[in-house]
Amino acid sequence: MMKFQTSGESHGQGLVAILSGIPAGLRIDFDSVNLDLRRRMRGYGRGGRMKIESDTAQFLSGVRHGVTIGSPITILIENRDWANWKQAMSVEDQPETRALYRPLSSPRPGHADLAGCLKFNFRDARYVLERASARETAARVGAGGVARLFLREFGMEVASHVVAVGRVSLPPGAVSFDAILALREDEETLLNCVDRAVEQRMKAEVDSATENRDTVGGVFEVRARGVPPGLGTCAQWDEKLDGQVAQAVMSIQAVKGVEIGSAVENVARFGSEVQDEIGYDRSARRFTRKSNRAGGIEGGMTNGEEIVVKGFLKPISTLRRPLESVDFVTRNPVKAAYERSDVCVVPAAGVVGEAMVALVLARALLEKFGGDSMDETLRNYRAYLEQVERF
Ligand SMILES: Cc1cc2nc3c(=O)[nH]c(=O)nc-3n(C[C@H](O)[C@H](O)[C@H](O)COP(=O)(O)O)c2cc1C
Repeated sequence: MMKFQTSGESHGQGLVAILSGIPAGLRIDFDSVNLDLRRRMRGYGRGGRMKIESDTAQFLSGVRHGVTIGSPITILIENRDWANWKQAMSVEDQPETRALYRPLSSPRPGHADLAGCLKFNFRDARYVLERASARETAARVGAGGVARLFLREFGMEVASHVVAVGRVSLPPGAVSFDAILALREDEETLLNCVDRAVEQRMKAEVDSATENRDTVGGVFEVRARGVPPGLGTCAQWDEKLDGQVAQAVMSIQAVKGVEIGSAVENVARFGSEVQDEIGYDRSARRFTRKSNRAGGIEGGMTNGEEIVVKGFLKPISTLRRPLESVDFVTRNPVKAAYERSDVCVVPAAGVVGEAMVALVLARALLEKFGGDSMDETLRNYRAYLEQVERF
């Protein structure tokens, strides 16, 4: 079974992802993984830390001469800022440098600070926030970068774009997959939006939040194409793919809502307008749909259409205009602590969304087709595609 875990703290030595279950024989395109890590850092409205960090994935295990060998893949992403945090984040207690430990005793609303301190019994929120921080998503993107390469071998591609920042939204209408995919290579993109004019208005929204010492949220959309029908299952609640996709996207820091297909809009329509009617293309020997409001998943299984999933981000919590809080020690009202922070993270969250969707699809694909080597998995996959074609 394919699984992955991450470890590491925001200002510790680095982040680690361990990804196991990827078959042997997958060629790793290191540039592609590092491109995804760079994309997670870019975007208009990111804070000063993005200038300090320049993430690269160091593969420590599971790959030999550029090819996976079937053993767990360990990816290390060093924190370049570690030098400035050695004392504060030291693994050992160093009484002589305790003055440099950077405790945080005024919990920030909207962060893990208060809930985590109550849970783990700390009066210094640093013990909690270091792990709760979205810096952790760098490790997810590293692992997701491998899942992306794996899926490509089966003709699948995952991409994301930003559909809303604050009050500015991309107008409704079809956006081509290729237009979204092109954003991946576009170093000039500001907010990962396919429409440059809308993007400028999104930029103005970020500017106005920055001027007001505030933050903005928004919506990203992840799409996956080339996905065969039949991944996931209707047979068991926790194996349903829509549930797994939703959990994976919802687990991204600051994501507070997930939509598959056009679920929200569908609520105000009649059933006759919402279901994707079925046709058959005899020459291509495949079933077709007139629309894809289901977002590529029906009954917990992929149906062969594009996967479409949106993540809704709250405006991030740390404000330059700090909110009310209470000091852990004195219990007196104080302003919440401020740590260097972003104003808008929607494009970056979209890149993390891609990683999470890629990892869920890779796991579902391996569950269905198995295989210890890429040859074996591909053979099983092709046999299934023939079965679907002959259906
Ligand atoms: C890519 C990314 C970057 C983030 N950067 C920040 C940040 O700089 N400041 C901040 O307050 N929150 C940031 N967040 C959100 C917080 O990590 C998140 O709100 C917090 O950990 C509490 O988790 P929750 O909002 O999921 O409940 C970021 C989220 C993502 C996805």
